Amino acid sequence: MPFVRNAWYVAGWSHDFGAEMRALTIVNETMVMFRASDGALVALEDRCPHRQLPLSRGKRIGDTIQCGYHGMTFDRTGACVRVPGQDNLPASAYVDAFPVEERHGIVWVWMGDPDRADPATIFDMPEFSDPAWHVHHGDALHLKANYLNVAENLVDPAHVSFVHPTTLGSSASENVPVHVSTRGKAITAWRWIRDAPPVGFFQKFGGFSGNVDRWHYYHLHLPSTAVIDFGSADAALNLPEEDRQKGVRIFALHFVTPVTEDYTIDHWMHIRNAAVGDDAASAQMDAMFRIAFAEDKEILEAIHIEEQRPQKRKPIRIAIDKGPNVYRKRIRDLIETEATEDLGDPVRPTFVQHD
Ligand code: FES
Ligand SMILES: [Fe+2]
Repeated sequence: MPFVRNAWYVAGWSHDFGAEMRALTIVNETMVMFRASDGALVALEDRCPHRQLPLSRGKRIGDTIQCGYHGMTFDRTGACVRVPGQDNLPASAYVDAFPVEERHGIVWVWMGDPDRADPATIFDMPEFSDPAWHVHHGDALHLKANYLNVAENLVDPAHVSFVHPTTLGSSASENVPVHVSTRGKAITAWRWIRDAPPVGFFQKFGGFSGNVDRWHYYHLHLPSTAVIDFGSADAALNLPEEDRQKGVRIFALHFVTPVTEDYTIDHWMHIRNAAVGDDAASAQMDAMFRIAFAEDKEILEAIHIEEQRPQKRKPIRIAIDKGPNVYRKRIRDLIETEATEDLGDPVRPTFVQHD
C-alpha cells in the first residue's frame, strides 16, 4: 500500500540537526538535510539529477551542496548553480526541496505537494507552552515493521495488559471494554480501570498508597501522530472523566514516521503535570518507557516477519479492534483521495424541463 503524502512527518528532534549533512528517508523518499548558516533547516532530494549519486555523499560549500561525482552544485532551494565544464545550466538540473518546519524542538517535513504545505496544520497542543506542564523529549525507536502496525498499536489500549505487565498495564484491565470515538482527524480509543492497584509506572511516580482509578485515552491523529493521555488518581476521589488534570496525568506522544514499507521510526516524548522541573524523574520515566517500547518493538517486528510469509487465511478481527479498524479505513480513504484528481466543488446541475 502506498503512503499518505500530503502530511507533515517528523524527521527528528531539532538537536539532531547541525551543519553537517544528514541523509534520511521518509515515505520511501530519500533526502539530505542540514542547518544553513542562518540556522534554518534545508531538506533536499538526496539524488543528483546527473548520475544519481546521493548528494549526501558530496560536500557542503557554504549553503550549497557540491555533488561528490562531477561537482554539480545545488543551492538550498534545490536549484543548480554550477555545472563544471560548461556555462549553461540545463533546466532539468535541479533537485526537489521539501518544506521543513520546527516546533517545540521537533522537526517536521512536508512530503506532499509543496503548494499544499500549510504549517498551521502541524500537530500542536497547548500543554507544550504551559509552565504547569513538564515537556520532555525522549528518543527514537527504530522498528523493522510497517508503520500501519506501529500506529495501530497506538490506538489499541487493550494490549497493555499483556505486553506491558510491569509498567503500563496489569491483569486488572484484561476484560475492561474499549470505547472508540472520532473527532475530525483524530480517532480515540479509551477506557477506565476503576478501583485497582496502581500499575508499575504509577507505583513509582504517583506516590499512591491504596487503589487508584486509571485511565488510558489513545488519540491517534491522522496519519500517524499518537497522543496517549494516561494517568491515575486515588480511587476514593472517584474522579470524573473531565477532571483528569487532578490526578497524575501524562501525555505520551509518538510521532510515527514511515521510512519504507518495512521500516518505521517512532520519535517519542512526554508532557506531564507531575514532577515539573525534575530532570531525574524524566530520566526515570524514560527508563520505564524504554522497557515498554522494547516490548512493543519485539512484538511488532515478529508480526512483520510473519506477515511476509504465505498466508493460509485472513487474520481475524475481534471486539477490541474497533480503533485499529477505523484507523486503517481512514488511511485507505486518505490515500484514495490523494490518488484521485480534485476538480473542486461540483458544478451546479442545470434543471431541464421535459414536456
Ligand atoms: S553524479 Fe552528480 S555531478 Fe555527476
Ligand atoms: Fe505498547
